[in-house]
Amino acid sequence: MAGKVTVVGAGFYGSTTALRLAEYNIFDTVVLTDIVEGKPEGIALDINQSRSIEGFESKVVGATTTPEGAGYEATANSDVVVITAGLPRKPGMSRMDLIGVNAGIVRGVAENIAKHSPNAVIIVVSNPLDEMTALAQLATGFPRNRVMGQAGMLDTARFTNFVAEKLNVPVGSVKTLTLGSHGDTMVPVPSRCTVDGQPLSEKLSAEEIAELVTRTRNGGAEIVALLKTGSAYYAPSAAAARMAKAVIEDAGLLMPVCAWVDGEYGIAGVYLGVEAKIGRSGIVKVVETDLSASELAELKVAAEAVRAKQADVQSL
Ligand code: NAI
Ligand code: 2OP
Repeated sequence: MAGKVTVVGAGFYGSTTALRLAEYNIFDTVVLTDIVEGKPEGIALDINQSRSIEGFESKVVGATTTPEGAGYEATANSDVVVITAGLPRKPGMSRMDLIGVNAGIVRGVAENIAKHSPNAVIIVVSNPLDEMTALAQLATGFPRNRVMGQAGMLDTARFTNFVAEKLNVPVGSVKTLTLGSHGDTMVPVPSRCTVDGQPLSEKLSAEEIAELVTRTRNGGAEIVALLKTGSAYYAPSAAAARMAKAVIEDAGLLMPVCAWVDGEYGIAGVYLGVEAKIGRSGIVKVVETDLSASELAELKVAAEAVRAKQADVQSL
C-alpha cells in the first residue's frame, strides 16, 4: 500500500467512492471530507469498522471542512483527489442546470486542494462534468495533464451493460466506447463496439443500435427519474475509483475520460471526452481512435458545445 487519496464530498458519490478505494487496499490513507459537520467522520468510522470483515488495511479519515478552507489540513499532500462536491440533479433537470451553484462549490474546493496538495492529480466528477473539469484546472492552475474528469468510463459502462442485456451475453464479451461530452452531445461510438470480437453491427440492426445509443445518452436521466431524490452513484463511483487506482499504480491504462485535447481529432483547446492513457502524471497521452465520418462530426459538435460553456465558467 502507498499513497493518499482524498474524496471531497461525502454524499452518495463520494462515500461510495471512498468505500471502493478503501476496499482496493492500495492506498495507505483515504480521506473523505464534507461541509456537513460529522458526516465524513461518521462514514469513515463506519467504513473502518468493516475492515476486519472485508480484509483491508487502508485507513479512512473523515474531516469536516468549510468552504473557506478550514479542515483541509487533513487532505494535505494527497496524491490523488476526487472532487464530488456539489448538487446532483433532480428529475427534469439537465446537468447544465447545476452550473451556477456547482461552479462556486468546485472553484472553492479546487483552490483549497491546490493549497494543500500542490502535486495531486485531480479527478472531477461534479456536474456539469466537462465544465467543472475545466474550472478545476483554472482554479488550481495545475498543468492540464493533472486535472481530468470522470464521465466516459461511466457512459461506456452503461453502453456495455445495455448491449450485454440486449444480446443476453456476458458483459465481459462486450466492448463499447463513448466519447464527447457528459451531456446532450455525448458521442457513443458504435463503429468501435464489438461482441466477442465481432462488430456490433453484425449482432444488432441499425435501429436496435440507435435505440441503445439513445438509452446511453439518457443513462443518467433514466436513473434520476427512478430515484427521484438524487442521481446514480454505484457505477459512477466504480468509474472514478478505477481512475484513481490507475493513477496511483501508474498503470498506463487506456480509459475514456474527460481530458484536455490539443490537436487530436483536429480539435484543440478544450476539455472533452476522449480515450487517454492514465498514469502517475494523470493524463499520460490522449489516444486517437478510428471514428466513422459521422462519429467524428459528432465529436466536433460536442467540442464546440463544451467550448462555449467552458468559456462561461471562467466568470463563475
Ligand atoms: P450528494 O448530494 O449525495 O452529495 C454531495 C455532497 O457534497 C453533499 O454531502 C454536500 O454536503 C457536499 N458538499 C457541498 N459543498 C461542498 C463543499 N464546498 N465541500 C465539500 N463538500 C461539499 O450528491 P452525489 O450523488 O454525491 O453527487 C455529487 C455530484 O456528482 C453531483 O454534482 C452529481 O451531479 C455528480 N455526478 C456526476 C457523475 C459523472 O459521471 N460525472 C455521475 C453521478 C453524479
Ligand atoms: C449520471 O450520469 C447524473 O451525471 C450523472 O448519472
